[in-house]
Amino acid sequence: MSSLVFGGGAFLALMVGCEGPAGADGVDGVDGIDGAAGADGAAGADGAAGADGADGAAGADGEDWPGPVPAEYDAADGIAGGAAYSQWYSTSGGGTGALADYSVTVASDFARCKACHAWDGLGNAGSYASRTGVSTGSSSRPDVAPENLRATAITASYDQLFDLIDRPDGRYMNSADSRHPDYSEYLTEAQVWNLVKFMREEWVNPNDLYDLTISGEPMHYEWDEASGWFLVSPTLSYSNIGQDGDPTNGAAIYTAVCAACHGADGKSMPPGGTQSVGQFVRAKPYEAWFKVKFGEPGDMEPGLVTETADLQDLYAAMADPDLYPDL
Ligand code: HEC
Ligand code: HEC
Repeated sequence: MSSLVFGGGAFLALMVGCEGPAGADGVDGVDGIDGAAGADGAAGADGAAGADGADGAAGADGEDWPGPVPAEYDAADGIAGGAAYSQWYSTSGGGTGALADYSVTVASDFARCKACHAWDGLGNAGSYASRTGVSTGSSSRPDVAPENLRATAITASYDQLFDLIDRPDGRYMNSADSRHPDYSEYLTEAQVWNLVKFMREEWVNPNDLYDLTISGEPMHYEWDEASGWFLVSPTLSYSNIGQDGDPTNGAAIYTAVCAACHGADGKSMPPGGTQSVGQFVRAKPYEAWFKVKFGEPGDMEPGLVTETADLQDLYAAMADPDLYPDL
């Protein structure tokens, strides 16, 4: 039994001890198909704001507008500048006395500042709104410019104003068109500085002396069968002449400064022989003060009355046709 047991044990041992041959290795599996791409993830939350940057370095100190006053401007004469605005070739305007001295052959209005820019500096938006020029029926004078020189005088620096007047790139003076001439050939630097000072300091604000109302459309041509081409012009009317002045003081100024030439009633030495001086002031308030302040070559010296308050008083008196009647 025991051998059986033993034998059985040996058999069992044989059974355990005798391993079978190793199986062949399995074939590697086929690679799987790539999976579909995943959906994009949700956007992340905004990052926190970065810290404020440091303050920049302080800029250099600005200069007070319109910049440092040039020495030439300091030395300039604004009253002579006003005379030059009227007639730069006159002696009171700093010129030789005659336009012909400058070899200029065009009609004088193509040379005079006031002809293109008007006494009030408002160009064709002010007292010259209905004045004809080369393209509106007058061959002897230029079209009035659209620029507002009063605005330019307060927005341009000293040197800019000088350059805008001097303008070496302007048209030749002898061409009869309406652009700004090249004045660098004609005006001395002193004259240009005088003009700059006049524009900045001596030009009286029109509203200080009168009110101007312009009604109707700007100048232009229209056509109809009955009349063909005809010029349409706005209507200008002046009111409140000298309204801010004192007529009593104005009459005293007139007596002291004007009466010796124009008579107590303003009818002597009548402008153009057709108007008393009172009449002139009432018809052309935009021009009379200019002549009184800056002169009229050959007739009146510049500087007769220069303070705006005195001009207001003079206008207040001369607006009265009982004191200064028509011719
Ligand atoms: C024949 C016409 C004419 C005359 C004369 C004339 N100007 Fe002008 N001016 C113009 C016109 C038009 C302009 C606009 C620019 C241009 O067309 O040349 C201008 C421009 C200017 C400007 C610059 C305005 C701006 O806002 O840019 C100034 C300042 C000026 N003129 C001053 C003067 C002075 C001062 C005189 C006299 C010394 C004068 N002008 C004479 C026609 C004239
Ligand atoms: C030295 C003499 C004299 C004095 C002073 C004088 N005038 Fe005249 N004035 C004249 C002469 C001359 C004219 C030109 C008259 C003519 O057209 O024949 C004139 C012209 C005028 C004109 C018209 C200008 C023009 O373009 O035709 C007005 C306006 C005028 N004078 C106002 C006055 C006033 C106001 C005063 C005083 C502040 C005054 N005048 C002082 C001599 C003078």
